[in-house]
Amino acid sequence: MSKYIIRGGTPLRGQITISGAKNAAVAIIPAALLVDGVCRVENVPDISDVDMLFSILRQMGASITDCGSGAFEIDCRGVKTHAATGEAMQKIRASYYLIGALLARCGRADVAMPGGCNFGGPRPIDQHVKGFTAMGAEIDVKNGILTAVTDGGLRGASIFLDGIPSVGATINIMLAAAKADGTTIIENAAREPHIVDLANFLNYMGANIRGAGTNVIRIRGVKNLKGGSYSIISDQIEAGTYMAAAAGTGGRVEIINIIPKHLECISGKLREMGVEVYESGDSSIVVESTRRFRKIDVTAMPYPGFPTDMQPQIAALLCLADGTSTVTDNVFDTRFKYVDELAKMGASIRVTGRTAIIQGLDRLTGAPIRAHDLRAGAALVIAGLCANGTTEVEGVSYIERGYEDIVGKLRSLGADIISVDDGGELSESAAV
Ligand code: EPZ
Repeated sequence: MSKYIIRGGTPLRGQITISGAKNAAVAIIPAALLVDGVCRVENVPDISDVDMLFSILRQMGASITDCGSGAFEIDCRGVKTHAATGEAMQKIRASYYLIGALLARCGRADVAMPGGCNFGGPRPIDQHVKGFTAMGAEIDVKNGILTAVTDGGLRGASIFLDGIPSVGATINIMLAAAKADGTTIIENAAREPHIVDLANFLNYMGANIRGAGTNVIRIRGVKNLKGGSYSIISDQIEAGTYMAAAAGTGGRVEIINIIPKHLECISGKLREMGVEVYESGDSSIVVESTRRFRKIDVTAMPYPGFPTDMQPQIAALLCLADGTSTVTDNVFDTRFKYVDELAKMGASIRVTGRTAIIQGLDRLTGAPIRAHDLRAGAALVIAGLCANGTTEVEGVSYIERGYEDIVGKLRSLGADIISVDDGGELSESAAV
């Protein structure tokens, strides 16, 4: 297993380009199963979650061609199965999108229950099941396999999502409804940018979806979807992560290939902390920090609120703020496994319920620490970049699920970070 070795204290300077959005890519790739033709998808991020999904689709019979520079041609016409039960399915969360996609494609799905980041609490899929059932599917879970069957295909339905608007359930129901008989309405739908991106992809292929990005989405089922081309949006969370790294190290970084609207809440909270964030173009921003952070209170909410996927990263920054800050997560109530790791670097954080109470300090000190999930891992890298001394981060496979070439991108900004394998050998990007 690789680890990162980070010597902290270097202000990051320069320019980086943001890759395609992980959470859009992992929804759009399974959506190719609905298309009777070739889908050319561009701006696909080079991350292990995407590799895993490509491997699953290829095992099912899909033909996937790497066209270079993040472009792929996906042709699922060779897929003859409605089962996706290999062990790869338990490695990622997004494998459950194959349920909605296969139900739409052939009215049946046998899909292994998903894996993905374990935040220490349950990650139920009852809202996904609620949607499939409303559209006429019968669901059964046995031996870790979810089986969904329909007599005569799915029918349009009205579905109200309970509680926090679920991103996964919104996406899965949209996939299932795209070719259902009749119209499906999702109320209390999630509004994240990657939901809009999936709806745009499906509409480019001939679907009829309206209202994505609002809390009511209307999907009028169509008979078939043809092939076409689509470019994935840039990743708001990757961008936010580098904004935090630039701010935390007291540097100045221009971040290009972003969608400013998607970053409004992240930019707003960084400005509240005293960080300078300004747009340098239609799709670029500059982040600069020259002073100690002001303390703030942050609450992670569904979009357009502050994203839960940025909660660990801003918590790492607030360890260095002037005073006591709070970080509350109203989406996942146990997403604080990074706290014990930051404590090894000297951080003073107390978690009570859904809230981390963070006492700001003058500095963090390097230490051997471990990533327990994707965004926690990103937070630990930021802490290592800001700390005095050397930090070794284990568990980096979590980080590489969602960040394309994070070591190479940070090194291009002047960070002293290398990736070494078990034998202490440098990895490729670290050798440049
Ligand atoms: C997606 O997870 C993302 N993953 C997560 O990103 C992200 O943190 C999350 O949305 C929230 O934005 C992917 O897109 C692959 P939810 P998902 O369904 O769909 C509860 C990352 O770091 N819930 O919106 O699993 C659930 O327990 C990853 O990129 C139910 O109760 O999240 C949670 O409390 C981590 N029943 C809340 O809703 C359900 O059926 C939001 O979950 C579904 C969800």
